[in-house]
Amino acid sequence: FDVSWDAAAAEKGGWSSFMAKEVAEQPEAVANTIRGRIQDGQVVIPELDGLDELFTGINRVIITACGTASYAALVGKYAIEQWARVAVDVELAHEFRYRDPVIGADTLVVSISQSGETMDTLMAVKYARERGARTLSVCNTQGATIPRESDAVVYTHAGPEVAVASTKAFSAQITALLLLGLHMGRVRGTVADASTDVAELLALPEKVAAVLESEQEHVTQLAGWMADTRSVLFLGRHVGYPIALEGALKLKEISYIHAEGFAAGELKHGPIALIEPGQPVFVLVPSPRHSALVHSKVVSNIQEIRARGARVIVVAEEGDAAVLPFADEVIHIPLAGPMFEPLLAVVPLQIFAMALATAKGLDVDQPRNLAKSVTVE
Ligand code: G6P
Repeated sequence: FDVSWDAAAAEKGGWSSFMAKEVAEQPEAVANTIRGRIQDGQVVIPELDGLDELFTGINRVIITACGTASYAALVGKYAIEQWARVAVDVELAHEFRYRDPVIGADTLVVSISQSGETMDTLMAVKYARERGARTLSVCNTQGATIPRESDAVVYTHAGPEVAVASTKAFSAQITALLLLGLHMGRVRGTVADASTDVAELLALPEKVAAVLESEQEHVTQLAGWMADTRSVLFLGRHVGYPIALEGALKLKEISYIHAEGFAAGELKHGPIALIEPGQPVFVLVPSPRHSALVHSKVVSNIQEIRARGARVIVVAEEGDAAVLPFADEVIHIPLAGPMFEPLLAVVPLQIFAMALATAKGLDVDQPRNLAKSVTVE
């Protein structure tokens, strides 16, 4: 009788992989990141108490990060510009430092890092500080180097992330950036009434859980059918664009399939040449309730690729009937406000990458050639 104790299996708590566990933990990661940051119907981040000047004394924001965190940064750009009415640029940390960027005391440099130890991001933060910029870190690891090198820190509370490919930390980063955007908007006086957005925030954990519940099986099955696929494209618009990039990155990282994410509007400027019969394309469709115009543009993108034989997999809100005639598969997400959709739309893409890698017999937690935290430049 052999009793073997597998510590790793025990840590996974019954899940087949850390990634599966971490994907499932996203409702909690989002809820924990929001907790304690809403007071009287407003977003108030206690760590930023007394630091209003960081947000009022600036006329531009640069968000810097690498990998998945840089896609959270892009969502942050849309949110901060919308709510705090300040110009935001997103810079890959390794590009930012190796030129002569225009920064100074009027610039807030926000860094995003799960580990807080990514060397490229750390060097960008140090560089920004030397140039007199103010620095704020969004980080998942208490006391890590990047938050220690920054003027302020907003922690994400995703809990430890073990799988190399980031999932729950990404959701927590987007959540933290939404909170930061609303906090900045309040401080700068550009958000008069945050009640709708606060209600959206508070509803997120349940909606993320609903996507996990309703789409897990469907998307897993879809990935199983597509195990031989050689290339997958992802299209998104507005905040769906960073999610298209993230969906493609997840697939590259763990299933080693060629994948590209594009801004849907860019399709006609080049990527449409890639479309041939059978090419799978995920399309993230923004809600028609937010903008009928933007929605109709994405629907016409779908028609264009469908006419060229693409296999169209649509991620759309429940009840969006306009996409049905042109989609081979429809993945539904619950209704959410414009800035909040990314947190729902990313979940099926994570499940898809994970299921496809599993169908190919790959180790989803430890993909080849990658490290969880890259501490060299
Ligand atoms: C590595 C990981 C990625 C991660 C990136 C940034 O490349 O493999 O998953 O997105 O680093 O990591 P950070 O800890 O700074 O968020």
